[in-house]
Amino acid sequence: MQIDINKISNSRIAEVDFNQLGFGKVFADHMLVAEYADGKWQKATIQPYGPLSFQPAMMSLHYGQAIFEGMKAYRSDAGDILVFRPEENWKRFNKSAARMCMPEVPEDIFLGGLKELLKLDKNWVPSQDGCSLYIRPFMFATDEYVGVTPSSTYKFIIFNCPVGSYYAKPLRVKIETEYIRAAKGGVGFAKNAGNYGGSLFPTQLANKEGYDQIIWTDAATHTYVEEAGTMNLMFIIDGALVTAPTGDTILDGVTRKSVLQVAKDWGMDVQERLLSVEELVKGIESGKVQEAFGAGTAAVIAPIQTIGYNGKDYDLPERKPDGFSAKVYQEINDIRLGKKTDTRNWIW
Ligand code: COI
Repeated sequence: MQIDINKISNSRIAEVDFNQLGFGKVFADHMLVAEYADGKWQKATIQPYGPLSFQPAMMSLHYGQAIFEGMKAYRSDAGDILVFRPEENWKRFNKSAARMCMPEVPEDIFLGGLKELLKLDKNWVPSQDGCSLYIRPFMFATDEYVGVTPSSTYKFIIFNCPVGSYYAKPLRVKIETEYIRAAKGGVGFAKNAGNYGGSLFPTQLANKEGYDQIIWTDAATHTYVEEAGTMNLMFIIDGALVTAPTGDTILDGVTRKSVLQVAKDWGMDVQERLLSVEELVKGIESGKVQEAFGAGTAAVIAPIQTIGYNGKDYDLPERKPDGFSAKVYQEINDIRLGKKTDTRNWIW
């Protein structure tokens, strides 16, 4: 696909303090915009990051045909721009698209467009410790129509944000037993906007109780733990790595599968299985649960310090520098930064 490039005349980069990035509020100079109409992708343009215009009846605003991805680019010591497993995000994006009746985005637009965009905005990839360029591809329905049906036109956009960490400290999370995130047959495995919108109210209630995030439980019985807020959930129990199996209700996380692979390569016992709330809280009390953490692109590896359940807080042991979550973070970080040979072919 031919990509037309319309460059900015003045970069905004000099206004940015790369030592105070936070997460998701600073945007690189350019964005990629591709349009779908008449049954095919029409054209792609790289243009200055900025406002778009749309009609009030634009369908995605009303019926939620909107999906996204998250990836990260890093700057190696040699100055190369490295992206962590973007093919996985491209494949998952198209699975989300299929579930939401949206067109697939071809590789030359998703990955080819990303490459051109990164070439142009390479100076926006931070080199500060713990920082990266968060890449946000997304697609939304653009038909101007009030009937409930799949749109016939879409926009696919990629913009980039230089970011620091998503969570600044170990987390306090609450096991949610009233509200749900996803159910069998639903859209929990897809990265559609509504999954995140629906999580806001219960998360806000948990925040008021002093928790940072929620651990979702299965919709039918609230017996088993699923994922946490914006991340997959993992535990070290009796030395084994335990996480919920993927399915309708669990996001097939790229960080999740990378952590599982590293653990298998290290010869650990890896268990993708149901974990009941009861096993979890009893395991924390008895000391069998040694670590709890979230795994996600934005969050990377986010240690959990406390789990709240039915009004009681269960504290995890203090995080050890040679514990699994610290070691796997180091391993993945070294690969992402090109400090370690990429034997698994994860770097692009
Ligand atoms: C990601 O990890 O990329 C996510 O999707 C989390 C995001 C909602 C901040």
